[in-house]
Formats: sequence, C-alpha cells, structure tokens
Amino acid sequence: MIAEKSALSSAEEVLRQIEKAAQREFLPIVGPSRGKILVEEVRKAKPRHVLEVGTLIGYSAILMGKELDENAEIVTIEIHRDEAKIAGENVVRANIPPKVTIITGDAVEVIPTLNGPFEFAFIDAEKSEYLQYLDLAENKFHKGTVVVADNAGIFADQMSDYLDYVRNSGEYKSRYVQVGDDGVEISVKLQL
Ligand SMILES: C[S@@+](CC[C@H](N)C(=O)[O-])C[C@H]1O[C@@H](n2cnc3c(N)ncnc32)[C@H](O)[C@@H]1O
Repeated sequence: MIAEKSALSSAEEVLRQIEKAAQREFLPIVGPSRGKILVEEVRKAKPRHVLEVGTLIGYSAILMGKELDENAEIVTIEIHRDEAKIAGENVVRANIPPKVTIITGDAVEVIPTLNGPFEFAFIDAEKSEYLQYLDLAENKFHKGTVVVADNAGIFADQMSDYLDYVRNSGEYKSRYVQVGDDGVEISVKLQL
C-alpha cells in the first residue's frame, strides 16, 4: 500500500505545531503575520548566510530556512540551553535545506566570535540590547545586508536607540512595517 503523502511539508507541519503551542502557552514567536513579512524579505534577499539573534524553539529559523536552499547557512543564537535543545529537535524534524547552527550563549559574547559575512540578519532577542547586537555584528555585514528587527512597534521605547541608529545614522535605508498592533523594522546596509 502506498502511504498517503501529507499535503504539508515537514517544515510547515512543525511551524503549525509551534503556532498551536504558542497559543496555548506564552511563546513569543514572530508568528505568521510578521513572519510573512520576514519570509518576503528572505525571498527577496536570497541570502547565503543568515544570522539570527534569539532562537527560542526554532520557529523563525525554520520559517526562514524553508525559503533557502542547501547552500545556505543559518547561524542562530539562544541564551537558554533548554530552548536551544528543543529548537535543535524542531529543526531536525522540519528537515529544511540549509545548514542550521544553533549556538547556546549570550549573543553579546557569541557575535564577536562569528566569522560572517552575513547577507541577512533577524534580531529578536532582548529588546534593549538590539543596538548592541547590531554594533557587534555590523563588521560582518556588507552593502545590501538586510536586517529585520522584530517588535519595533510594541517595544519601540525599549529599542529607541536602535531605531534612531538605523533610521538616522546614514548607514542604513530603514523602514517600519506595521503588522496589526506591532511591526518590524527593515534596514538595508548602505555601505561596506
Ligand atoms: C522573542 S524570542 C525569539 C523568538 C524567535 N525568533 C521566533 O520567532 O521563533 C527571544 C529569545 O531570545 C533569547 N535571548 C534573550 N536575550 C538573549 C541574548 N542576550 N542572547 C541570546 N539569546 C537571547 C530568549 O531566551 C528568547 O528565547
């Protein structure tokens, strides 16, 4: 007997499971609405090297990874060991094409140890530290690197230094995309 093939890919199944879990218990994932904007940016940029700050249990890494091919690599940093372990299991189950490297540690300490370059970054960890993450990662970016920062609506106060920098330093072309009552800041690096 031929087994019936699921209409959903493994990645989509894992994403739906995490979305359901996020509704049951408080899980601050990017979610499907802002996730759609993230996916659009990944599709446009087609990055080979992605940096993610704030893995949680792997939802956004899988969301980005299912848009990329096996030549791509996602490096994602999570401070909590338990979350990083579950993320690892979810990434394996999702069976996405890129290599995903989950690093357990404080992004402030981990980012300086990374080689880069990165053509895409998703920042979604401690809101008051966004500018610090960017400062530490910036020398691994190049012209055209896209940086998406989550929760730029509801946590705009906590990340005001970050928003001021990407909007006014002249280093980025930056725009805010409102999604429901929150939003993402999308910043494209202008020079090397
Ligand atoms: C909003 S959640 C990330 C959600 C995830 N990006 C998603 O959409 O599925 C933020 C995560 O960042 C982690 N985090 C907070 N501060 C961190 C730091 N300094 N370094 C690394 N991870 C950090 C938290 O433990 C938490 O799991």
